[in-house]
Amino acid sequence: MATAGARVEGFPRGLTADSAIVRWVNEVAALTTPDAIYWCDGSKAEYDRLCQMLVDAGTFIRLNPKLRPDSFLARSDPSDVARVEDRTFICSANEEDAGPTNNWRDPVEMRKTLTGLFTGSMRGRTMYVIPFSMGPVGSPIGRLGIEITDSAYVVVNMRIMTRMGTAALDAILETGQFVPALHSVGAPLAPGEKDVVWPCDPDRKYIVHFPETREIWSYGSGYGGNALLGKKCYSLRIASVIARDEGWLAEHMMIIRVTSPDGRVKHMAGAFPSACGKTNLAMLEPTIPGWKVETIGDDICWMKFDADGRLHAINPEAGFFGVEPGTSMFTNANAMRTLRANCIHTNCGLTDDGDVWWEGMTKEPPAHLIDWQGQDWTPGCGRLAAHPNARFTAPATQNPAIAPDWEDPAGVPIDAIMFGGRRTGVVPLIREGFNWEHGVFLGSIQSSETTAAAIGAVGMLRFDPFAMLPFCGYNMADYWAHWLRVGASADPAKLPRIYYVNWFRRDAQGRFMWPGFGENSRVIEWIFGRCSGEDDAVETPIGLLPAPGALDTRGLDIDASDLAALLAVDSAAWLEETAAIEQHYAKFGSRLPAQLAASLAELKRQVATA
Ligand code: GTP
Ligand code: SPV
Ligand code: MN
Repeated sequence: MATAGARVEGFPRGLTADSAIVRWVNEVAALTTPDAIYWCDGSKAEYDRLCQMLVDAGTFIRLNPKLRPDSFLARSDPSDVARVEDRTFICSANEEDAGPTNNWRDPVEMRKTLTGLFTGSMRGRTMYVIPFSMGPVGSPIGRLGIEITDSAYVVVNMRIMTRMGTAALDAILETGQFVPALHSVGAPLAPGEKDVVWPCDPDRKYIVHFPETREIWSYGSGYGGNALLGKKCYSLRIASVIARDEGWLAEHMMIIRVTSPDGRVKHMAGAFPSACGKTNLAMLEPTIPGWKVETIGDDICWMKFDADGRLHAINPEAGFFGVEPGTSMFTNANAMRTLRANCIHTNCGLTDDGDVWWEGMTKEPPAHLIDWQGQDWTPGCGRLAAHPNARFTAPATQNPAIAPDWEDPAGVPIDAIMFGGRRTGVVPLIREGFNWEHGVFLGSIQSSETTAAAIGAVGMLRFDPFAMLPFCGYNMADYWAHWLRVGASADPAKLPRIYYVNWFRRDAQGRFMWPGFGENSRVIEWIFGRCSGEDDAVETPIGLLPAPGALDTRGLDIDASDLAALLAVDSAAWLEETAAIEQHYAKFGSRLPAQLAASLAELKRQVATA
């Protein structure tokens, strides 16, 4: 099975040289000329071996086994710390099909560029072949893929984030289906050249999707969504296209199960932009007595109609790739408990006793640590201990709040869908869409202040429809039309209700007006009640808001004036907002669904006359 001189290790039994997989692997090897080709089996022994190899190479630092057993810290190149939206490309045959919110390139041109970049790009490295399943292997909602990468860091992260290895390969062989996802850090080694701890190409990054042929090519970055190709590239950008063609939904949403004190159960999905609270909400510990929240997923949600006519959702992932700064026993205790062992930490601080630390983890910072760039750090030194997009990679099973049946291949029936984002002003704490169509309108006008999850300025207000702006693999207006079609095809009584939340309102002093985190259970309770038929809402031009007193604020220390502001509808501010929405919609020209234009016109009419 030798290819262009590369040593082959772990070649799977039962695979034949003429299979589509082997042909593709050999083609890639011929192009990228690695020293070795290693077929991953996904075993714990393999994971342990690769982690030790990364320790020996200096990429991983083993944390104190007494404090964090089998856990590692990696420090990335300072140029490679987050998703690169301006280097993310959708290469559909027609530019219009990528739409105005995506970077489009001609697929033929892009293939030429990539072929150039990948030529010899794995020289001196091992090429790993990673069969993986998004979703439990064999789930009718799940899907299969193969990532080829020259990064062992990617392999061990993929083992936590996906179902990876032999079982996935068997399923691929059985179904004959997989999405090929090719990744190179873009740092070939000359003979005898010593490797750096975080190889990447600081100057050239390409995160490329071919939606029509369902292929992914990623070059130059080793970080997160740029490199773990099962996540954003496959489960959102490529899957959104597949979902459009097949009549289902691939979304940037967390999924929870909510149980009321009297034992009733509802499932909710929520789309918030990157670093806007999905992981927090997914692991929420309710402050209101008797309520329970369990995690199904924290980032991605695939929803399909089941035989019962309802949308059923799975979490296609197997782990959490979560934001570290701000995560603490006070804000997300379940995340902290999840991190007790067996995790990979990227770009946080290293304490003197061999533990991790990030801003907000404890009230008192350590007196000294080594920061994410490997430098001495003391409180007040003027630098951050952790990069704002420092992340943990953690097995989902370690979350004490994980639902026992979170891997049910049939998924969970969704009762409510939430949209949300960071809005300092205007947008109230909670509102409900009048119906599915109006809910799609709410998703289409979703907006949020940008975060450190992507390279670029933080705190800039932008429209981020359905929290999918960086993740929709096709024309966003067509995506809205798809959502409308999905709704129109269903029994309205069986569709989830749609909500819009905002935990991030601030007062004139810049303080958060809503306590957030566990207290968000009060909003969840109202949504739960609405989904159970409770009639405790008032109609406003922007949607249905909690009737006076309907939101349970017992035991909550909140100013009456703050609460009033959180639930107010400021017509003048909304009139301004409609002007911004008009500009946002104008980008889509004639592809904008007429129903959304009508919803906007109606909103404008109502707030203008209020
Ligand atoms: P991705 O993994 O990037 O897709 O993001 P996510 O939506 O899972 O983000 P996550 O839950 O990790 O959000 C992290 C940030 O949101 C941290 O800065 C938290 O402190 C903040 N956050 C989450 N929930 C709340 C809340 O209810 N109120 C406030 N004020 N901040 C919150
Ligand atoms: C996000 O940015 O929304 C993430 C992290 O979930 S990454 O996988 O890096 O895209
Ligand atoms: Mn995300």
